[in-house]
Amino acid sequence: MHAQMTRRTFVAAAGAAALALAGCSSNAGKPQPTTSATGDTTDIPWWKKMVVYEAYPRSFQSTTGGPSGDIRGVARRLDHLQQLGVGAVWLTPVFVSPMADNGYDVANYMDIDPSFGTMEDMDQLIAKAADHDIKIVLDMVINHTSDQHPWFLDSRQSQTADKADYYIWRDPAPDGGAPNNWESIFGGSAWTYVSERNQYYLHTFLPQQPDLNWENKRVRAEMADVFNFWKDKGVGGFRVDAVTYIKKPEGLPSGVPQTNGMAPIHDETANTKGILEFLNELQSKTVAGTDVFLAGEANGVPASELNQWVGPNAAFDMLFTFPHVNLDGHDDSWSNTHEWRLTDLKDALTQTQTNTAGDGWCPVFFENHDQPRCVNEYFAPGCDRTLAAKVIAHVQYGLRGTPFVYQGQEIGMQNVSWPSIEDYNDVQSKGRYQKCLDDGLTPEQALAAVQRFSRDNARTPMQWDDTAHAGFTQGPTTWLPVHDDYATHNIAAQAQDDKSVLSCFKRLAQLRSGNDVLVSGTYTEIDHDNQNVYSFLRELDGRRVLVMANFTNAPATAGNLPACQGATVLSCTYEDSPAWDAELRPLEARIVELR
Ligand code: NOJ
Repeated sequence: MHAQMTRRTFVAAAGAAALALAGCSSNAGKPQPTTSATGDTTDIPWWKKMVVYEAYPRSFQSTTGGPSGDIRGVARRLDHLQQLGVGAVWLTPVFVSPMADNGYDVANYMDIDPSFGTMEDMDQLIAKAADHDIKIVLDMVINHTSDQHPWFLDSRQSQTADKADYYIWRDPAPDGGAPNNWESIFGGSAWTYVSERNQYYLHTFLPQQPDLNWENKRVRAEMADVFNFWKDKGVGGFRVDAVTYIKKPEGLPSGVPQTNGMAPIHDETANTKGILEFLNELQSKTVAGTDVFLAGEANGVPASELNQWVGPNAAFDMLFTFPHVNLDGHDDSWSNTHEWRLTDLKDALTQTQTNTAGDGWCPVFFENHDQPRCVNEYFAPGCDRTLAAKVIAHVQYGLRGTPFVYQGQEIGMQNVSWPSIEDYNDVQSKGRYQKCLDDGLTPEQALAAVQRFSRDNARTPMQWDDTAHAGFTQGPTTWLPVHDDYATHNIAAQAQDDKSVLSCFKRLAQLRSGNDVLVSGTYTEIDHDNQNVYSFLRELDGRRVLVMANFTNAPATAGNLPACQGATVLSCTYEDSPAWDAELRPLEARIVELR
């Protein structure tokens, strides 16, 4: 597709071109799907129809020759994103930050960190992206700030400072220790002592990330101002970080201790009753009545409560929940993970789908900057990586919701495996490594856990081509090593290859944008107990589209398929898709229109 193709031509071309581009044989002689079999789509919000791409700017593209990426680097790659059918790019935080947690510790929400560029760069990115029909989505960290934020610097000075009550301060316990037994998500006590106040402050994450006091209405007003500042600059949406932790339970009671005598803070504070009052207020003071979306990161919200959080009259347009990316329990512990089966994945996805049916909506994602790469996470070792990446892509674009593709997923990037904990940068990996040792694992076992689950797996530099440093920087070094497979796995090579993961992602975006049934059709799971194949049906106004995905490296059969008179294969992971039937080859996924 021509790089400058506009959004309108992209959508119009998509339906007519879908089969030819899908590289699959059509066997049933059914007319090719047209742009819309269901008529008008103008009442569907833009962010439901588009693909969102998550960029981790530090690892996306350096334009300065420096070791890390920058905002101009995102602007440089807009053609690539447009060709992927992307309608919005979520940037992880680029605000002023000491980078204790790579930007999730914000010291000024209304300016850009010099390592990423300038405010002018951001203004230009917003404008240039608009020329590509792409909106910019910012990552708002609302649960905590940096300990270097002026609010905290003031707050820590004394119990009578102007911003004394902006954070959560408590007196020491009678023995002088922490006020309760909560353990931070990154390990260690969730409390840090400050002698100037003779008090402790609470931090759900690092000590450098003090939690804001959302009970304070001045804090809530400050945060709304931040959202409005960026909304007025023309951003298309906000991903809102760690939203479930902003309200703490009354009295901050200690939790049930684990073996180390501490209680995980997320068990004690996630989704405290009354939290939605704060979040509804934030929405009403910021994006209400606009087409700017809010997507919350919401660990700890059960699927059964999604309808209270998401919808046209709710606090969020979409909510990221994590059961389907935490099937082995690695979000909680790296020393005590467990095996999972395909039915666990189906359960997690179906719960989200059914609880966001009707007015609800969800992001559909399998990777982000905190998770291992999906080709490693969902498939047995030794599986063909290209097919595996395509299987996930077919499920992701087949499900109801907005596909959120993480950088590198579109070329099937995989985990790294570095020989020492010293090689890792991620603060969580360091904390979890220590915790594994405390839990009795050997250093070898602890390192194996880091290699498997580290957030650095998703944070290695983007692989653009086969030149030095994969085209990520022209300079001598990179902040994290480039994956050593970049010579064979990169954007430039895959753009030339019709059978590549990248080409598959492009075709799937076209297919989805030309088929309303894939956007807003209902979801029904089929053949739940099948441990090899995940199948589901999407239906809209008489159209029926079936998605079947064989997650195993062996032939498998999809069961309980709906009766039909014939079918058209719209997309598949193999290039020579056979006549439509229930027999799937290893790692074969198909999207099929039924008659
Ligand atoms: C969730 C973010 O995705 C993660 O990267 C960060 O470390 C924590 N929230 C703390 O802000």
